[in-house]
Amino acid sequence: MALILGLESSCDETAAALVTSDRRILAHKLAGQEAAHRPYGGVVPEIAARAHVEVMAPLVEAALAEAGVTLDQVDAIAATAGPGLIGGVMVGLVTGKALALASGKPLIAVNHLEGHGLSPRLADPDLAFPYLLLLVSGGHCQLLLVEGVGAYRRLATTIDDAAGEAFDKTAKLLGLGFPGGPAVEKAAVRGDPRAVPLPRPLLGSAEPHFSFAGLKSAVARVVGQYSAEDIAASFQQAVVDCLLDRTRRALESVEASALVVAGGVAANASVRAALERLAGEHGRRFVAPPLWLCTDNAAMIAWAGVERFAAGLTDPLDFPARPRWPLDPGAEKVRGAGVKA
Ligand code: KG4
Ligand code: ZN
Repeated sequence: MALILGLESSCDETAAALVTSDRRILAHKLAGQEAAHRPYGGVVPEIAARAHVEVMAPLVEAALAEAGVTLDQVDAIAATAGPGLIGGVMVGLVTGKALALASGKPLIAVNHLEGHGLSPRLADPDLAFPYLLLLVSGGHCQLLLVEGVGAYRRLATTIDDAAGEAFDKTAKLLGLGFPGGPAVEKAAVRGDPRAVPLPRPLLGSAEPHFSFAGLKSAVARVVGQYSAEDIAASFQQAVVDCLLDRTRRALESVEASALVVAGGVAANASVRAALERLAGEHGRRFVAPPLWLCTDNAAMIAWAGVERFAAGLTDPLDFPARPRWPLDPGAEKVRGAGVKA
Protein backbone atom coordinates (compact mmCIF):
# COMPACT_ATOMS: atom_id res chain seq x y z
CA MET A 1 0.00 0.00 0.00
CA ALA A 2 1.38 3.42 -0.99
CA LEU A 3 0.40 6.80 0.42
CA ILE A 4 0.82 9.85 -1.84
CA LEU A 5 0.55 13.56 -1.07
CA GLY A 6 -0.83 15.52 -4.02
CA LEU A 7 -0.56 19.28 -4.68
CA GLU A 8 -2.52 21.31 -7.23
CA SER A 9 -2.16 25.00 -8.12
CA SER A 10 -2.33 25.30 -11.93
CA CYS A 11 -5.30 27.65 -12.11
CA ASP A 12 -7.44 29.23 -9.39
CA GLU A 13 -7.77 26.37 -6.89
CA THR A 14 -5.09 25.67 -4.32
CA ALA A 15 -5.39 22.06 -3.17
CA ALA A 16 -3.65 19.34 -1.18
CA ALA A 17 -4.77 15.73 -0.73
CA LEU A 18 -3.60 12.40 0.64
CA VAL A 19 -4.66 9.31 -1.29
CA THR A 20 -3.71 5.65 -0.89
CA SER A 21 -3.11 3.09 -3.61
CA ASP A 22 -6.22 1.24 -2.40
CA ARG A 23 -8.29 4.31 -3.28
CA ARG A 24 -8.83 5.78 0.16
CA ILE A 25 -8.93 9.56 0.16
CA LEU A 26 -7.56 10.30 3.63
CA ALA A 27 -7.83 14.06 3.16
CA HIS A 28 -8.60 16.53 0.42
CA LYS A 29 -8.35 20.24 1.07
CA LEU A 30 -9.25 22.96 -1.38
CA ALA A 31 -9.08 26.75 -1.24
CA GLY A 32 -10.88 28.52 -4.10
CA GLN A 33 -10.16 32.09 -5.17
CA GLU A 34 -13.47 33.05 -6.78
CA ALA A 35 -13.95 36.17 -4.65
CA ALA A 36 -10.51 37.52 -5.57
CA HIS A 37 -11.09 37.09 -9.33
CA ARG A 38 -14.82 37.95 -9.50
CA PRO A 39 -14.34 41.73 -9.97
CA TYR A 40 -12.36 40.96 -13.15
CA GLY A 41 -14.78 38.37 -14.56
CA GLY A 42 -12.00 35.82 -15.01
CA VAL A 43 -8.84 34.40 -13.46
CA VAL A 44 -6.05 37.00 -13.11
CA PRO A 45 -2.77 35.00 -13.20
CA GLU A 46 -0.81 37.32 -10.89
CA ILE A 47 -3.57 37.36 -8.25
CA ALA A 48 -3.84 33.58 -8.51
CA ALA A 49 -0.09 33.05 -7.99
CA ARG A 50 -0.01 35.27 -4.91
CA ALA A 51 -3.02 33.51 -3.39
CA HIS A 52 -1.36 30.09 -3.95
CA VAL A 53 1.72 31.33 -2.07
CA GLU A 54 -0.41 32.33 0.90
CA VAL A 55 -2.45 29.17 1.28
CA MET A 56 -0.43 26.24 -0.10
CA ALA A 57 1.73 25.47 2.94
CA PRO A 58 -1.10 25.81 5.49
CA LEU A 59 -3.29 23.58 3.28
CA VAL A 60 -0.62 20.86 3.26
CA GLU A 61 -0.42 21.11 7.05
CA ALA A 62 -4.22 20.86 7.31
CA ALA A 63 -4.37 17.88 4.94
CA LEU A 64 -1.72 15.96 6.92
CA ALA A 65 -3.61 16.75 10.16
CA GLU A 66 -6.95 15.64 8.70
CA ALA A 67 -5.42 12.37 7.47
CA GLY A 68 -3.66 11.88 10.83
CA VAL A 69 -0.31 11.19 9.14
CA THR A 70 3.12 12.83 9.06
CA LEU A 71 5.34 13.47 6.06
CA ASP A 72 7.44 10.48 7.17
CA GLN A 73 4.55 8.14 6.39
CA VAL A 74 4.08 9.48 2.87
CA ASP A 75 5.72 7.44 0.08
CA ALA A 76 6.01 10.22 -2.51
CA ILE A 77 4.98 13.80 -3.22
CA ALA A 78 3.07 14.45 -6.42
CA ALA A 79 2.73 18.02 -7.64
CA THR A 80 1.19 19.48 -10.78
CA ALA A 81 4.07 20.65 -12.99
CA GLY A 82 1.88 21.98 -15.83
CA PRO A 83 0.14 22.83 -18.03
CA GLY A 84 -1.44 25.94 -16.54
CA LEU A 85 -0.79 29.48 -15.36
CA ILE A 86 2.93 29.36 -14.83
CA GLY A 87 3.11 31.44 -11.63
CA GLY A 88 0.65 29.14 -9.93
CA VAL A 89 2.25 25.96 -11.27
CA MET A 90 5.60 27.11 -9.85
CA VAL A 91 4.14 27.57 -6.37
CA GLY A 92 2.83 24.00 -6.15
CA LEU A 93 5.84 22.44 -7.87
CA VAL A 94 8.38 24.27 -5.71
CA THR A 95 6.40 23.37 -2.58
CA GLY A 96 6.45 19.74 -3.69
CA LYS A 97 10.20 19.87 -4.33
CA ALA A 98 10.87 21.47 -0.93
CA LEU A 99 8.78 18.79 0.83
CA ALA A 100 10.55 16.05 -1.14
CA LEU A 101 13.95 17.49 -0.26
CA ALA A 102 13.09 17.89 3.42
CA SER A 103 11.56 14.42 3.78
CA GLY A 104 13.87 12.50 1.45
CA LYS A 105 10.79 11.19 -0.42
CA PRO A 106 10.62 11.10 -4.23
CA LEU A 107 8.98 13.83 -6.28
CA ILE A 108 6.41 12.96 -8.94
CA ALA A 109 5.80 15.77 -11.45
CA VAL A 110 2.22 15.33 -12.64
CA ASN A 111 0.68 16.60 -15.85
CA HIS A 112 -2.57 18.28 -14.74
CA LEU A 113 -4.35 16.72 -17.73
CA GLU A 114 -3.18 13.27 -16.68
CA GLY A 115 -4.65 14.07 -13.25
CA HIS A 116 -8.04 14.68 -14.87
CA GLY A 117 -7.59 11.74 -17.22
CA LEU A 118 -6.81 9.12 -14.56
CA SER A 119 -9.26 10.47 -11.94
CA PRO A 120 -12.06 8.19 -13.21
CA ARG A 121 -9.91 5.22 -12.13
CA LEU A 122 -9.80 6.62 -8.59
CA ALA A 123 -13.59 6.78 -8.64
CA ASP A 124 -14.09 3.40 -10.33
CA PRO A 125 -11.79 0.43 -9.53
CA ASP A 126 -13.21 -1.52 -12.46
CA LEU A 127 -12.22 0.99 -15.13
CA ALA A 128 -9.52 -0.73 -17.19
CA PHE A 129 -7.32 0.52 -20.06
CA PRO A 130 -7.90 1.31 -22.86
CA TYR A 131 -10.75 3.80 -22.53
CA LEU A 132 -11.97 6.72 -24.59
CA LEU A 133 -11.62 9.93 -22.61
CA LEU A 134 -13.44 13.17 -23.33
CA LEU A 135 -11.38 15.74 -21.45
CA VAL A 136 -13.38 18.95 -21.19
CA SER A 137 -12.07 21.73 -19.00
CA GLY A 138 -11.50 25.46 -19.02
CA GLY A 139 -8.32 25.17 -21.08
CA HIS A 140 -8.79 21.93 -23.03
CA CYS A 141 -11.27 20.00 -25.09
CA GLN A 142 -9.82 16.73 -26.31
CA LEU A 143 -10.68 13.15 -27.11
CA LEU A 144 -7.92 10.78 -26.02
CA LEU A 145 -7.48 7.05 -26.13
CA VAL A 146 -6.01 6.24 -22.72
CA GLU A 147 -3.94 3.11 -23.28
CA GLY A 148 -2.12 3.15 -19.94
CA VAL A 149 -0.34 5.40 -17.47
CA GLY A 150 1.58 7.92 -19.56
CA ALA A 151 0.24 6.40 -22.78
CA TYR A 152 -2.22 8.74 -24.46
CA ARG A 153 -3.27 8.94 -28.08
CA ARG A 154 -4.93 12.23 -28.95
CA LEU A 155 -7.76 11.67 -31.40
CA ALA A 156 -9.17 15.19 -31.43
CA THR A 157 -8.69 18.63 -29.93
CA THR A 158 -10.19 22.09 -30.28
CA ILE A 159 -9.01 24.27 -33.14
CA ASP A 160 -9.85 27.41 -31.14
CA ASP A 161 -11.62 27.69 -27.75
CA ALA A 162 -12.13 25.00 -25.12
CA ALA A 163 -15.71 24.10 -24.12
CA GLY A 164 -15.26 25.47 -20.59
CA GLU A 165 -13.88 28.69 -22.02
CA ALA A 166 -17.03 29.03 -24.14
CA PHE A 167 -19.18 28.51 -21.00
CA ASP A 168 -17.17 31.18 -19.17
CA LYS A 169 -17.41 33.70 -22.02
CA THR A 170 -21.13 33.07 -22.46
CA ALA A 171 -21.66 33.67 -18.73
CA LYS A 172 -19.75 36.92 -19.00
CA LEU A 173 -21.77 38.06 -22.05
CA LEU A 174 -25.00 37.26 -20.21
CA GLY A 175 -23.84 38.94 -17.01
CA LEU A 176 -24.28 35.69 -15.08
CA GLY A 177 -21.08 36.06 -13.07
CA PHE A 178 -18.02 33.96 -12.42
CA PRO A 179 -17.21 31.06 -12.52
CA GLY A 180 -19.26 30.77 -15.66
CA GLY A 181 -20.00 27.09 -16.25
CA PRO A 182 -22.15 26.46 -13.18
CA ALA A 183 -23.89 29.85 -13.67
CA VAL A 184 -24.86 29.01 -17.27
CA GLU A 185 -26.06 25.56 -16.22
CA LYS A 186 -28.24 27.09 -13.50
CA ALA A 187 -29.76 29.69 -15.84
CA ALA A 188 -30.32 27.06 -18.55
CA VAL A 189 -32.69 25.11 -16.28
CA ARG A 190 -35.27 27.90 -16.69
CA GLY A 191 -34.69 28.39 -20.43
CA ASP A 192 -35.81 26.77 -23.69
CA PRO A 193 -32.94 24.99 -25.49
CA ARG A 194 -34.74 25.44 -28.83
CA ALA A 195 -35.49 29.16 -28.44
CA VAL A 196 -32.31 30.62 -29.95
CA PRO A 197 -30.84 29.44 -33.28
CA LEU A 198 -27.11 28.92 -32.67
CA PRO A 199 -24.44 27.26 -34.82
CA ARG A 200 -22.86 23.85 -34.09
CA PRO A 201 -19.32 24.30 -35.44
CA LEU A 202 -17.80 21.22 -37.16
CA LEU A 203 -20.90 19.11 -36.48
CA GLY A 204 -20.77 16.17 -38.88
CA SER A 205 -17.35 17.24 -40.16
CA ALA A 206 -15.00 14.62 -41.61
CA GLU A 207 -12.18 15.94 -39.46
CA PRO A 208 -12.35 14.82 -35.82
CA HIS A 209 -11.84 18.14 -34.04
CA PHE A 210 -13.87 20.60 -31.96
CA SER A 211 -14.49 24.32 -32.44
CA PHE A 212 -16.36 26.71 -30.14
CA ALA A 213 -15.22 30.21 -31.16
CA GLY A 214 -18.03 30.65 -33.69
CA LEU A 215 -20.62 29.59 -31.13
CA LYS A 216 -19.31 32.16 -28.67
CA SER A 217 -19.47 34.91 -31.33
CA ALA A 218 -23.01 33.87 -32.20
CA VAL A 219 -23.99 34.19 -28.52
CA ALA A 220 -22.53 37.73 -28.50
CA ARG A 221 -24.79 38.65 -31.43
CA VAL A 222 -28.05 37.50 -29.81
CA VAL A 223 -27.52 38.99 -26.34
CA GLY A 224 -30.43 41.35 -25.67
CA GLN A 225 -32.70 39.70 -28.27
CA TYR A 226 -33.69 36.76 -26.08
CA SER A 227 -33.83 36.12 -22.34
CA ALA A 228 -30.57 35.14 -20.64
CA GLU A 229 -32.22 31.84 -19.67
CA ASP A 230 -33.15 30.98 -23.27
CA ILE A 231 -29.68 31.91 -24.52
CA ALA A 232 -28.03 29.88 -21.75
CA ALA A 233 -30.20 26.83 -22.48
CA SER A 234 -29.70 27.10 -26.26
CA PHE A 235 -25.95 27.59 -25.87
CA GLN A 236 -25.65 24.59 -23.55
CA GLN A 237 -27.64 22.47 -26.01
CA ALA A 238 -25.31 23.51 -28.84
CA VAL A 239 -22.26 22.54 -26.78
CA VAL A 240 -23.83 19.18 -25.88
CA ASP A 241 -24.66 18.52 -29.56
CA CYS A 242 -21.06 19.28 -30.60
CA LEU A 243 -19.49 17.19 -27.83
CA LEU A 244 -21.82 14.31 -28.61
CA ASP A 245 -21.25 14.35 -32.37
CA ARG A 246 -17.45 14.41 -32.07
CA THR A 247 -17.42 11.80 -29.31
CA ARG A 248 -19.70 9.49 -31.29
CA ARG A 249 -17.32 9.74 -34.23
CA ALA A 250 -14.36 8.79 -32.02
CA LEU A 251 -16.24 6.01 -30.22
CA GLU A 252 -16.97 4.36 -33.56
CA SER A 253 -13.30 4.47 -34.56
CA VAL A 254 -11.54 2.92 -31.54
CA GLU A 255 -11.54 -0.21 -29.43
CA ALA A 256 -12.36 1.04 -25.94
CA SER A 257 -14.04 -0.67 -23.03
CA ALA A 258 -15.64 2.48 -21.74
CA LEU A 259 -16.50 6.08 -22.49
CA VAL A 260 -15.11 8.33 -19.79
CA VAL A 261 -15.56 12.05 -19.21
CA ALA A 262 -13.38 14.25 -17.01
CA GLY A 263 -12.54 17.92 -16.42
CA GLY A 264 -14.63 20.82 -15.12
CA VAL A 265 -17.30 20.69 -17.86
CA ALA A 266 -17.90 17.02 -16.92
CA ALA A 267 -19.67 18.47 -13.87
CA ASN A 268 -22.48 19.62 -16.20
CA ALA A 269 -25.57 17.41 -15.83
CA SER A 270 -26.72 17.80 -19.46
CA VAL A 271 -23.26 16.87 -20.75
CA ARG A 272 -23.14 13.80 -18.49
CA ALA A 273 -26.65 12.65 -19.38
CA ALA A 274 -26.02 12.96 -23.14
CA LEU A 275 -22.73 11.04 -22.96
CA GLU A 276 -24.27 8.33 -20.80
CA ARG A 277 -26.97 7.81 -23.44
CA LEU A 278 -24.34 7.70 -26.19
CA ALA A 279 -22.28 5.09 -24.35
CA GLY A 280 -25.43 3.01 -23.80
CA GLU A 281 -26.30 3.15 -27.50
CA HIS A 282 -22.84 1.82 -28.34
CA GLY A 283 -22.84 -0.87 -25.65
CA ARG A 284 -19.97 0.75 -23.74
CA ARG A 285 -19.70 1.48 -20.04
CA PHE A 286 -19.96 5.13 -19.07
CA VAL A 287 -17.74 6.43 -16.26
CA ALA A 288 -17.79 9.96 -14.88
CA PRO A 289 -16.11 10.96 -11.61
CA PRO A 290 -18.25 12.55 -8.88
CA LEU A 291 -18.71 16.30 -9.42
CA TRP A 292 -16.07 17.41 -6.91
CA LEU A 293 -13.50 15.21 -8.69
CA CYS A 294 -14.34 16.74 -12.11
CA THR A 295 -13.32 20.30 -11.26
CA ASP A 296 -9.73 21.00 -10.20
CA ASN A 297 -8.65 19.26 -6.99
CA ALA A 298 -5.57 17.59 -5.52
CA ALA A 299 -7.02 14.10 -5.04
CA MET A 300 -6.72 13.55 -8.79
CA ILE A 301 -3.08 14.71 -8.68
CA ALA A 302 -2.36 12.39 -5.74
CA TRP A 303 -4.07 9.55 -7.64
CA ALA A 304 -1.99 10.20 -10.77
CA GLY A 305 0.94 10.07 -8.33
CA VAL A 306 -0.26 6.67 -7.08
CA GLU A 307 -0.42 5.34 -10.63
CA ARG A 308 2.97 6.77 -11.61
CA PHE A 309 4.62 5.61 -8.38
CA ALA A 310 3.33 2.07 -9.00
CA ALA A 311 4.91 2.25 -12.46
CA GLY A 312 8.25 3.36 -10.95
CA LEU A 313 7.95 6.84 -12.46
CA THR A 314 9.50 9.50 -10.22
CA ASP A 315 11.18 12.75 -11.24
CA PRO A 316 14.37 14.71 -10.50
CA LEU A 317 14.29 17.88 -8.40
CA ASP A 318 15.20 20.04 -11.40
CA PHE A 319 11.97 19.11 -13.22
CA PRO A 320 10.75 22.33 -14.92
CA ALA A 321 7.35 23.99 -14.59
CA ARG A 322 5.64 23.77 -17.96
CA PRO A 323 3.01 26.28 -19.12
CA ARG A 324 2.25 23.95 -22.05
CA TRP A 325 2.56 20.19 -21.81
CA PRO A 326 0.60 18.05 -24.27
CA LEU A 327 -0.38 14.54 -23.13
CA ASP A 328 0.38 13.21 -26.59
CA PRO A 329 3.48 15.10 -27.83
CA GLY A 330 3.41 13.12 -31.07
CA ALA A 331 -0.08 14.29 -32.05
CA GLU A 332 -0.18 16.19 -35.30
CA LYS A 333 -0.72 19.96 -35.19
CA VAL A 334 -4.21 21.13 -36.05
CA ARG A 335 -5.23 24.14 -38.08
CA GLY A 336 -6.20 27.34 -36.27
CA ALA A 337 -4.05 29.97 -34.64
CA GLY A 338 -5.05 29.64 -30.99
CA VAL A 339 -4.25 25.96 -30.86
CA LYS A 340 -4.45 24.45 -27.41
CA ALA A 341 -1.92 21.73 -26.56
O1 KG4 B 1 -11.05 21.29 -14.86
P1 KG4 B 1 -11.31 22.67 -14.40
O2 KG4 B 1 -11.77 22.87 -12.98
O3 KG4 B 1 -10.07 23.60 -14.62
C1 KG4 B 1 -9.27 23.50 -15.75
O4 KG4 B 1 -8.35 22.64 -15.74
O5 KG4 B 1 -9.56 24.26 -16.70
O6 KG4 B 1 -12.40 23.26 -15.40
C2 KG4 B 1 -12.90 24.54 -15.23
C3 KG4 B 1 -13.93 24.80 -16.33
C4 KG4 B 1 -14.42 26.23 -16.34
O7 KG4 B 1 -14.43 26.70 -17.67
C5 KG4 B 1 -15.83 26.10 -15.79
O8 KG4 B 1 -16.71 27.11 -16.25
C6 KG4 B 1 -16.23 24.73 -16.29
O9 KG4 B 1 -15.07 23.95 -16.13
N1 KG4 B 1 -17.32 24.16 -15.50
C7 KG4 B 1 -18.55 23.90 -16.01
C8 KG4 B 1 -19.32 23.44 -14.92
N2 KG4 B 1 -18.54 23.43 -13.79
C9 KG4 B 1 -17.32 23.88 -14.18
N3 KG4 B 1 -19.04 24.02 -17.25
C10 KG4 B 1 -20.32 23.68 -17.44
N4 KG4 B 1 -21.14 23.24 -16.45
C11 KG4 B 1 -20.69 23.12 -15.18
N5 KG4 B 1 -21.50 22.68 -14.22
ZN1 ZN C 1 -8.27 21.20 -14.63
